Amino acid sequence: MRYEKIVVFGGAGFVGSNLAIFLKKDFPKIKIVCVDSLKRRGSELAIPRLKDNNIEFFHGDIRNKEDLTGIRDVDCVIDCSAEPSVLAGYSDESPEYVINTNFFGTINCLEVARKNKADFLFLSTSRVYPTKLINSLKLVEKETRFELAENQPVRGASSKGISEDFPIEGASSFYGATKLASEILINEYIDAYDMRAVIDRCGVIAGPWQMGKVDQGLIVLWAAKHYFKGELNYIGYGGEGKQVRDIIHIQDLYRLLKLQLENIEQFSGKTYNVGGGREFSVSLLELTKLCEKYTGNKIKIGSVKEDRTQDVPIYLTDTTKIKRECGWKPKITIDEIVKDVVEWIRKNEKSLKPILS
Ligand SMILES: NC(=O)c1ccc[n+]([C@@H]2O[C@H](COP(=O)([O-])OP(=O)(O)OC[C@H]3O[C@@H](n4cnc5c(N)ncnc54)[C@H](O)[C@@H]3O)[C@@H](O)[C@H]2O)c1
Repeated sequence: MRYEKIVVFGGAGFVGSNLAIFLKKDFPKIKIVCVDSLKRRGSELAIPRLKDNNIEFFHGDIRNKEDLTGIRDVDCVIDCSAEPSVLAGYSDESPEYVINTNFFGTINCLEVARKNKADFLFLSTSRVYPTKLINSLKLVEKETRFELAENQPVRGASSKGISEDFPIEGASSFYGATKLASEILINEYIDAYDMRAVIDRCGVIAGPWQMGKVDQGLIVLWAAKHYFKGELNYIGYGGEGKQVRDIIHIQDLYRLLKLQLENIEQFSGKTYNVGGGREFSVSLLELTKLCEKYTGNKIKIGSVKEDRTQDVPIYLTDTTKIKRECGWKPKITIDEIVKDVVEWIRKNEKSLKPILS
């Protein structure tokens, strides 16, 4: 890889810390700096992991451009810093934090890239697609899950999932909207400053060092509540646990991001839907069975019939575009993902219990 110094914003988070460590292991000569405000509970556990891998960490808030002025001589910026909850800004909570971090913060990260003439890799989200439109898709109800019907009333949707052609007009949550606004701005930076940048709209990502909570990090939340014998609910869609997501393991995501960084000319200026796809999808009911299998614990799961704000019964990533362009595809199955997560919790039980139980 051609880069000499990479900065990872959100570098103590789940995605950022794993990417930084995988990159350092593959390319020990590259200097890697992780910047994070440690806003997410559990991100502090990344600091010794980064240090053990010769990765520099510094505490900084992307909302404050003064915090970022010391970042110099970088030739690649990876932006993984975010308030990643789809529920952020709802109920009585002000949307300021999510807007200031996910939108104004991205501008500060882009400015670091512009001033350093660095390439830019942006972790966006499938939540940019409007909730009501996803909820208008035709479903087929099976015994343990919902499926998407083959013929759909909206362009860009099929039984394979949602492709990049799916419309983007409409509300999608503050999280989705701030990510979409950032994407639009990134395209302006590409055009105005000849910046090379790639946008990946990721579906649900999972793996070790994700600090799963009720509003984000589904697989770890489910596995940890089983492991520590906590409480869970099937929320919405009749409270039966038939809602479905496709899942991608962090190592599969890393293989793609590495390929994109190594061939940035090929990918720059493009936006991709990235995820496990139909083959690597799971319903909550099916996930419960896997968590029981790997933790050996069975817990009582409650049922809440009322749907949650900005929730969708099914999201599947149609990964046709990225597969066609570079041949990448995910390899790690849902079964292996759950197994891996449970093993990680078992190995780190003491430090994780206060955060995940
Ligand atoms: N995990 C997923 O399933 C998923 C899915 C789609 C997209 N993404 C995207 O991937 C990226 C990484 O997500 P993640 O799962 O690692 O989340 P995470 O919460 O684990 O990591 C985000 C990190 O950003 C930090 N942060 C928050 N506000 C900050 C601020 N103002 N300044 C500096 N740091 C700040 C947090 O402390 C945290 O360590 C995000 O951009 C997210 O939108 C994640």
